[in-house]
Amino acid sequence: MTDRREFLLGTGALAAAGLMLGQAGRPAPDSAKKIRLGVVGGGFGTQFYFNEHPNCQVTAVTDLRADRRQKLRDTYRCDTAYDSLEEMLRREKNLDAVAIFSGAVDHCRHVEAVMRRGLHVLSAVPACFTLEEAARLKEIKEKTGLRYMMAETSCYRPGCIYARNLFRQGGFGEIFYSELAYYHDRGELDELIADKRSRFYEPDGRRSWRWGLPPLHYPTHCLGFVVGVTGERVKSVSALGWGSKHPYLSENPYRNPFWNESALMETNRGHMVRCNVFWLVGEDGERAQWYGEKGTLYMANGGLHGDVWRERMAKARPLAYPNYLEDPMLPPSMRHGSGHGGSHAFLAAEFINALVEDREPVINVYEALAMTAPGIVGHQSALKNGERLKVPSFDPA
Ligand SMILES: NC(=O)c1ccc[n+]([C@@H]2O[C@H](COP(=O)([O-])OP(=O)(O)OC[C@H]3O[C@@H](n4cnc5c(N)ncnc54)[C@H](O)[C@@H]3O)[C@@H](O)[C@H]2O)c1
Repeated sequence: MTDRREFLLGTGALAAAGLMLGQAGRPAPDSAKKIRLGVVGGGFGTQFYFNEHPNCQVTAVTDLRADRRQKLRDTYRCDTAYDSLEEMLRREKNLDAVAIFSGAVDHCRHVEAVMRRGLHVLSAVPACFTLEEAARLKEIKEKTGLRYMMAETSCYRPGCIYARNLFRQGGFGEIFYSELAYYHDRGELDELIADKRSRFYEPDGRRSWRWGLPPLHYPTHCLGFVVGVTGERVKSVSALGWGSKHPYLSENPYRNPFWNESALMETNRGHMVRCNVFWLVGEDGERAQWYGEKGTLYMANGGLHGDVWRERMAKARPLAYPNYLEDPMLPPSMRHGSGHGGSHAFLAAEFINALVEDREPVINVYEALAMTAPGIVGHQSALKNGERLKVPSFDPA
């Protein structure tokens, strides 16, 4: 029988990669240090298990909404709750760091407020919304020397961990082309207008930040698969978009006319990246296909096929990933399933591990901006019908 173990050990490029062992990150630190963490945003922000990390205590939580404040209190067993981030920053002394899960358009402003208070920060994706904000994030991080991390879930999906390991160990050779996709269908179009309880509305009936969001302003679930695997940077981008008649597109604060955007990107290593972010599509999920000199890795595709490795001049073969939950970077208390392919536990652990070890987190400000800025520029390109535009670098000089 050709079982999973035989396959992992037995084929050329993969055997070289020694992938039976998970290599998601550095081992969790053995330390008595406790990071005192504030958590902002009782929607997605309730899914990160910070309180399960032996080196973390959630000391304060906040949301503008009372129901969500309660959810945060219950999730993190934390009795100190504030009506807003701003109030928490004014009044709470018992903090080393803050995790921000507010709406996408607020991240940069909230991160700046936290860092101005002298606290480390974990931010939900995307890092920012404009190139001016990207420059400010870099500046405030460099001025303060505080730790910044972006919680990009794609970076710790099993397929991405596997591809990263394989790449580092030479199993792909050069990856010359990657196909990246983030598909998140907005659903039935009349209901989008009528269903005021959906995530496209605030409880008071106003449209939320999600209404009309330009697809490529949310590029990190795609670019995490390139920046988070090879570390390369996007240098230029040419993108196109498609839209139809709908208030989502004609009445949004972003003046975004597109449901879907598709970008072709050039990297600083001369490679090609195709990045799709679609809001109206009969598919869902986040996935990549990496094309290397030695072979191609396909992440599972919406029920059409599973995870597959195809070595050049060989047949495609199903791929099973190691159990990364056994990786030593996760404290034993966090070795359980979590959202977005199990990535939430890894992201929370990496942030706390980095603070305890007093080192930069893996998805630091430079990686975060390398995953975010190409999308901002890509949307500008789509608005100019595909004009090829340069992407500025936010890396250290
Ligand atoms: N896979 C992923 O990485 C992934 C998945 C889902 C969401 N997200 C990101 O996480 C973030 C949160 O997602 P969500 O679905 O919970 O969004 P949401 O809009 O439902 O929730 C944001 C919450 O932040 C609160 N908030 C805003 N300003 C605040 C302030 N000044 N003080 C205190 N609370 C404040 C709001 O009241 C709201 O409850 C978004 O930016 C989203 O992009 C990422």
